[in-house]
Amino acid sequence: MPAAGRGERLGPGTPKALRSLGGAPMLVHAVHALAASRSVDLIVVAAPASQVDEVKAMLGQQELASDISVVSGGETRQDSVARALLALPSDVDVVLVHDAARPLVPPELITSVVSAVRRGAAAVVPAVPVVDTIKQVGDHDEVVGTPDRSRLRAVQTPQGFSRQVLQAAHARADGDTDPATDDAGLVERDGVTVHVIAGHEEAFKVTRPIDLILAEAVLARRRATGGLG
Ligand code: CTP
Ligand code: MG
Repeated sequence: MPAAGRGERLGPGTPKALRSLGGAPMLVHAVHALAASRSVDLIVVAAPASQVDEVKAMLGQQELASDISVVSGGETRQDSVARALLALPSDVDVVLVHDAARPLVPPELITSVVSAVRRGAAAVVPAVPVVDTIKQVGDHDEVVGTPDRSRLRAVQTPQGFSRQVLQAAHARADGDTDPATDDAGLVERDGVTVHVIAGHEEAFKVTRPIDLILAEAVLARRRATGGLG
């Protein structure tokens, strides 16, 4: 679980994964979602380098069905994932990468990703159709193209992989000057086919201040209806 980002687009404050959502840090929600899926044995969190001890203590207090370990994250998301991969025991053969910034991911989505990998896909991403028309722009803010929207998807996490495929992709990409913004992007560079499954609207990423308002509302609705959270 990459959780070492600063959250610059959310605005000034503590690192994003440690910001509060409904009274608990986002990271705590995300960890509980993974553990609640019952398909995750171990969660490795890549925490902000200056907060590793704090995160260890915080997660140590949670009652979870999964084991937890905490490592120090890196300068980029790709770096943070690579560091977390190094902490995996040798007997692990399926790996999910899940953003701490997607705290409300439904446990059923996690299980669906695991199932797709177990059925034989080397790489699996949950995705949703995009609602806006997307333009490609050039260096001077001029539109250079309009891709067919029906072919576009916004991808989410958890993304699921055969451990060997993911680790090989990270090893090959180590030191690249253009870090990937998702892990599927890395294995694509290796020519691996990435399988898409249906994502979930509640697996959205908390990126900007308005996302936090949405997340608070989703959480309040779950609590009012006795759902997750
Ligand atoms: N992440 C990480 N290490 C980094 C950068 C990002 O582990 N060096 C993690 C974030 O903590 C987050 C996930 O990657 O859980 C997705 O990244 P993003 O939404 O971009 O989060 P931030 O980088 O924190 O936000 P921003 O880009 O606005 O600063
Ligand atoms: Mg970022």
